[in-house]
Amino acid sequence: MGKRVVFLKQLYQDCLLCPTGFSANMALMVALRNLASLIAAGNVPVKDEKIAIFSDELNHASIIDGIRLAERQRSVEFFVYKHCDMSHLRELLSNCKMKKKVVVTDSLKTM
Ligand SMILES: Cc1ncc(COP(=O)(O)O)c(C=O)c1O
Repeated sequence: MGKRVVFLKQLYQDCLLCPTGFSANMALMVALRNLASLIAAGNVPVKDEKIAIFSDELNHASIIDGIRLAERQRSVEFFVYKHCDMSHLRELLSNCKMKKKVVVTDSLKTM
């Protein structure tokens, strides 16, 4: 396993290796939060600089925890759509005036 990790790191120098699915999901959500902070030049992002995250209601707990952590830093706002309900997602997306939108789902594979 150790050799494979070293090989991966050599192949993809910019990759982020996470030891568990939980930490990968948390890391991604925190990265989104940091992105919003960067756009706001280190300040608390104003509404227009925030990232809107649309999350399936049955997403894994690690995704939800990551989004809540990001939300607490006031860099993202999140919206929950009914499980695999694309009409509901479309409605939320079109009602949201924020420019930067991210849809997060693990439902394709695990649900
Ligand atoms: C979508 C998803 N994310 C994260 C996890 C958690 O992964 P881990 O047990 O490696 O932390 C799971 C586990 O089933 C999962 O299905």
